Amino acid sequence: GDPLKLGLAGLGTVGVSVLKRLGMMENELAMKAGRATRVDAITARSRNKDRGVDLSSYRWFDDPVALAKDADIDVFVELIGGDSGPAEEAVRAAIIAGKHVVTANKALLAKHGNELARLAEENNVSINFEAAVAGGIPVIKTIREGLSSNQITRVYGILNGTCNYILTRMEDDGLTFAECLEDAQRLGYAEADPTFDVEGNDTAHKLAILTSLAFGTEIEADSIFLEGITTITKADIAAADELGYRIKLLGVSQKTDTGIEQRVHPTMVPKTSEIAQISGVTNAVAIDGDAVGSITLAGPGAGGDATASAVVADIIDIARGLFINPLGRPVGELQPYVRAKMRAH
Ligand code: NDP
Ligand code: HSE
Repeated sequence: GDPLKLGLAGLGTVGVSVLKRLGMMENELAMKAGRATRVDAITARSRNKDRGVDLSSYRWFDDPVALAKDADIDVFVELIGGDSGPAEEAVRAAIIAGKHVVTANKALLAKHGNELARLAEENNVSINFEAAVAGGIPVIKTIREGLSSNQITRVYGILNGTCNYILTRMEDDGLTFAECLEDAQRLGYAEADPTFDVEGNDTAHKLAILTSLAFGTEIEADSIFLEGITTITKADIAAADELGYRIKLLGVSQKTDTGIEQRVHPTMVPKTSEIAQISGVTNAVAIDGDAVGSITLAGPGAGGDATASAVVADIIDIARGLFINPLGRPVGELQPYVRAKMRAH
């Protein structure tokens, strides 16, 4: 059949890794998907930046919206970031133009996910976003497909690689918060605006997506109880250590009698617990289901290659023709989100 043609928007940490991976596995990809898949057009902010890859064979666009609507592309891959502006406009334009969308943008989905999922339904296209939560860990598919026969009661975990990296290095290497954050930025883990990482917003965005998938509710990020790690000092970490604990930034979502409780905050976890063993950029997501019991997935939560692993898997799904409602059911069937009365934690 005809090759699947991709329009790739954003050539930063994730975009370049996706481009490399697609190039590296071209033949294998054709075999896995049953059709050739290739990048046709690209966009980024600056055309002349050296990105360490040869871009000369791709059509260049200055404007992501124009790329999203281009008649020759089948799939729009959004790796720009941001909950509004060019990413939002281009994703919307792509869907309306009948293109499937692959995105790693949790901020966008946390803010506009319900509406974008509805728009995708109306236009018979898919939105795939495996990379948006916990980087390389296939947690979206695990909850939506792998655990679809379960009533899920709780989802929680370490959902931000930057914060876990900072907390780990402060403890292990005695570095300051600022030194650790700088390293996380250099390694490509942090958001363009790292306050989203360290203030907990990024964890909240991811948690809101997981809550919707786990409980069949609309995505609701605004009412999440939020506390980041910016006030955690080396002294706090040392004090926790003496008591037999580690400090982790957790996102927790659980069903209660009064609704759903979603919260993000630093938590003292016993050193002997599974979650305390998760170090560096690694993320972990624990899911409690009535049939399966408890499952914990752990793996790299950020970084170009790990994130490209999930983005390219989404592209392969589309090439294979595997489409599913983005939020696991038609948007009209989602339950309204009811915030639980908060309990002390
Ligand atoms: P980067 O900041 O490294 O890259 C962003 C890219 O978008 C750059 O190439 C930039 O262009 C381009 N861009 C910015 N504005 C525009 C615009 N107006 N028009 C066209 N292109 C534009 O970000 P990341 O690669 O780290 O992240 C991309 C997305 O993936 C974000 O949504 C992020 O949250 C998500 N993500 C990131 C992970 C990671 O580990 N880094 C992990 C999981 C998800 P230029 O290079 O010219 O400036
Ligand atoms: N900034 C994010 C993190 C990228 O550190 O987890 C992965 O979503």
